[in-house]
Amino acid sequence: MVGMKSVHLSVFAVALVISGCKASAPGSLETSVATELKQNVTIGGKDAKNPTLDTPDIAHEGQEHFMHHCQICHGYDGQNTGVPFAEKMSPPVADLKSKDVQGYTDGQMKWIIENGIGPSGMPGWKGILEEDEMWKIVRYMRHLPPKGSLGMPDIFKEEAEEHQQLKSGKTDESKPHSHTHLHQH
Ligand code: HEC
Repeated sequence: MVGMKSVHLSVFAVALVISGCKASAPGSLETSVATELKQNVTIGGKDAKNPTLDTPDIAHEGQEHFMHHCQICHGYDGQNTGVPFAEKMSPPVADLKSKDVQGYTDGQMKWIIENGIGPSGMPGWKGILEEDEMWKIVRYMRHLPPKGSLGMPDIFKEEAEEHQQLKSGKTDESKPHSHTHLHQH
């Protein structure tokens, strides 16, 4: 029992070291300790059972809520497709199909939706989404489509198209432009 306790203490010590030096990228050991800490200590709801049925219809309903609330950061497919700032957020927007995220229990995923992950950019939806809506979104997160298969969110598509037009506008035959200029975009 004494042994167990000191193991836990040292895990927390590592966590303190990690949070104390944000400047350096964490090594894989630190990352896995941090992940484990997050999954076992910070994130609640581990044993809560998903009360919704595990059917394609329910996953589809969850997808509709996801399209409403989550796609702006996570993309339609939950894998950040077409979200221009996903990598730039700190921490970056999580890939919901990744092993780490799929490693959560349904209860933990629902807890994350409900409470968010402060102080990151992941907001909480308590009071905004109904309980069963959150659980259905979890169902969708278990059945995410292949990356890129749903395209990028409309809101970013327009932006990308405008950018594309701007770029092709520069190739206007009447005004020849230098090669380097074209490639600076
Ligand atoms: C404003 C942008 C934003 C929105 C909107 C958003 N998220 Fe996130 N989400 C993030 C960021 C950033 C992270 C990474 C946080 C981290 O790693 O600490 C994240 C992480 C997650 C994670 C993984 C957490 C982990 O520990 O790895 C889940 C699950 C998740 N989001 C689900 C959702 C769902 C479901 C919705 C909609 C109800 C949603 N998110 C809406 C930005 C967002």
